[in-house]
Parts: sequence; structure tokens; C-alpha cells
Amino acid sequence: MPPAIVILTGAGISKESGIDTFRDKDGLWARVDLEEVATIEAWHRDKRKVLEFYNETRRMFRAAHVAPNPAHRALARLEREYDGEVVIVTQNIDPLHEQAGSRRVIHMHGRDGEIRCMSCGHIFESDIDLTPQSVCPNCKAVGELRPNIVWFGEMPQHMDEIHAALERCGLFVAIGTSGEVYPAAGFVLHVRRRQPRAHTVEINLEATGNQSLFHEHIYGPASQTVPAYVQRVLTRGWRD
Ligand code: APR
Repeated sequence: MPPAIVILTGAGISKESGIDTFRDKDGLWARVDLEEVATIEAWHRDKRKVLEFYNETRRMFRAAHVAPNPAHRALARLEREYDGEVVIVTQNIDPLHEQAGSRRVIHMHGRDGEIRCMSCGHIFESDIDLTPQSVCPNCKAVGELRPNIVWFGEMPQHMDEIHAALERCGLFVAIGTSGEVYPAAGFVLHVRRRQPRAHTVEINLEATGNQSLFHEHIYGPASQTVPAYVQRVLTRGWRD
């Protein structure tokens, strides 16, 4: 069995699908104060505001113009056609990898459409709009439902599964992520320490602060660079 491939994706892969990134000039955090919408303190302070922000985000993901782009589709092709294992670890909460056909997708910052009760811990799938009056279907608590999304200061999800995948990979590719948010930003170092023979690649619009940690760099819009890279890996492998 050929070595596993682990792909880390960030907001940059969904940019050309019509979803803004976080830290670019026109990014979300330039318009919205993250302390007001993406922390547990914000939720306690003003549930209506936080829930409405995520209700809006969900509506935006469903907008007619938002759809997987050639980069998402190329990663689904890689999973279909590569002889070994392909794991996508995404920081994105959008459903575009799944919509493109990827099956092995780990959402480390949570996933739009999953709701968690802060009172009983029940997690369920639903696309209802949440309000401070929403009732938990399990414990009937009122006002304790929140999106099951990882806010600043909270633990990312599925870390054991992610570390296990990183430890068996022969190729690690980070696509469209600024490398500013840990633990995802540390995955490349983790791979290099634990798998010294693994190859590491950064694919981004431009060089990031983590650039020096990768063996190879490919710069340009993901919708063009990722399909070309996948074609190369499938036909010639990743070392040439
Ligand atoms: N193609 C490739 N890369 C792109 C494109 C594109 N078309 N457009 C933007 N990028 C790159 C930018 O150069 C930048 O490096 O995508 C990156 C986006 O960086 P961030 O906005 O910081 O997004 P991300 O790294 O996913 O953020 C991590 O931060 O706020 C939190 O929880 C949020 O999951 C998110 C985490």
C-alpha cells in the first residue's frame, strides 16, 4: 500500500467558491470582531448576536452561487484515483469538500449543520436557525443550543484521528491556510519530526509565514494550482 496523503485545507480553498477568508484584506475578521462572535464569552454575553451570525453564515453557504470549485473537485479525484489513503483535514466549516465528492474529511474546527447542547452535551444534525429560545431535543433545556463549531480558546475536534493520520503520511500538503492558527499551523513540523522522509508542500496564493517549513511551494489561485498538482501526483508521483 503506498503511503498516506494528508491534505490540510483552510479558507483559501473556498475563496473562489464565493466564501471569504478570515485574515486577507477583505477577510471576515477585517469586518467582524471575532471577540464578538467566535468565543464562548461572546455567546454568554449576547446569544442572539452570536447565533444570528452563524444563521447568516449557513444561509451564505447555501446561496446559489456558492459551490465547490475545481480545487475541491481535484481533491475528490485524488481520493478516488490514488492507490493509498487520502485524508482531508479541514479548518473550514463549509460543506464544499463533501459536496465535491470527498469522503474522508475531518472537520477540525467543526462543521456547519451540527448543533451541540451546552447543558447535556447532545450533538445533532440540523439546519434550523438557532435562537436564545431554542430547545434541546434531548434534555429540553432552553437557550443552551449552539453551533458545534470550535471557537477561539476551545479544543479542536478529532485530534487523535488527525495525529494518527499525520504519523503515517508520506505526503503532507497545506492548501489555502495562513498558518497562523494552532494546532493546524504546527502540523507540518509534526510531520517533519515524526516522518523525516515525508514530503511537505505549501499551496497558497502567496508565501505564508510558515513557508520555510515546507519542502516545496506552489503559488497561485487554488482553482488552478490544485488540479494541476493532483494531476502531477497521480501521473508522476510527488518526488521529481
Ligand atoms: N487560492 C489559494 N490560497 C488562497 C486563495 C486562493 N484563491 N485566496 C486566499 N488564499 C490564502 C491566503 O493567502 C491565506 O494565506 O488563504 C489563506 C487564508 O488564511 P486565513 O484567512 O487565515 O484562513 P485559515 O488559515 O483557514 O484560518 C484558520 O482561523 O479564524 C480562524 O477558525 C478560523 O478555521 C479558521 C482559522
